[in-house]
Amino acid sequence: MSSTPDLQQIHDFLIDLAHEAGKIITSSLPRVDTTGSKKNSADLVTEYDRAVEKKVSETLREKYPDYDFLGEETYSPEHQLTDAPTFIVDPIDGTTNFVHGFPNSCISLGFAINRRPVVGVVYNPVTNTLYSAIEGHGAYLNRTQRLPLKGEDLEPLRGLDNALVALEWGSERSGNNWDTKVNTFASLAGSREQGGAMVHSIRSLGSAALNLCGVAAGYLDLYWEGGGWPWDVCAGWLIVREAGGIILGGNPGDWEPRLDGRTCLAIRASPGGQGQKELAEELWSHVKGRLEY
Ligand code: IPD
Ligand code: CA
Repeated sequence: MSSTPDLQQIHDFLIDLAHEAGKIITSSLPRVDTTGSKKNSADLVTEYDRAVEKKVSETLREKYPDYDFLGEETYSPEHQLTDAPTFIVDPIDGTTNFVHGFPNSCISLGFAINRRPVVGVVYNPVTNTLYSAIEGHGAYLNRTQRLPLKGEDLEPLRGLDNALVALEWGSERSGNNWDTKVNTFASLAGSREQGGAMVHSIRSLGSAALNLCGVAAGYLDLYWEGGGWPWDVCAGWLIVREAGGIILGGNPGDWEPRLDGRTCLAIRASPGGQGQKELAEELWSHVKGRLEY
């Protein structure tokens, strides 16, 4: 194997693998009443999460034995992200949706070098929707449709009071991060008279990776998150950037977030980048407290 990774080959291989692994998801029948949990009753895992990760990790180790692997279901705190070329995998992102039959889950396959995502593949097998990107080559829906979807007709960003925003509740339901999230959500949704941003609306669609793809596609103006892991965001992070969007951290002033930083603010493309930084500053001005992980 050559020492320089062939990103196009990796991209194509990951897409085939995502389709293959997707069959495990679409042929499954998860049940809410027999589903297991990890940290607490809202942090779900199923036998299918583990089966998909097993298939993906075994296939990648066989094809690319020189590269590291970081996956949600086999992660341990000793195994941190390094600069080495690494596959970063969430076998099912949106496990709660999957368990309930809400059709918004995906396989998220990222490849990073020097902790920087360079290939990203996100596939929702239920809707047969594929998002993918290679660094420097743009982002695509179903391999052919360039993102963002509106192309030349994309409107400029015009502040939070014109924005459709994605936020997630997460599985931590008390403490500093919970308080920060809930108070920030209220500030974003609240009326201008009361100091709120009065966003058009808020969506909690249940998958970090698909939220990022929604920002890349342009149907979400921004996504603010605390608590995500590298496998939730690696692939989508690149897809946003390759679609002309920007990725920042969730706390005010974090213009250069780390892939393993556990917070994220993604803002969609805008003609000439117009309004992106202003929207970030405006969003950060509504962060009530500080996200700490
Ligand atoms: C979760 C989802 C959720 C996000 C959490 C993730 P999972 O992943 O992406 O939208 O808010 O931070 O952990 O548990 O479904 O793989
Ligand atoms: Ca996940």
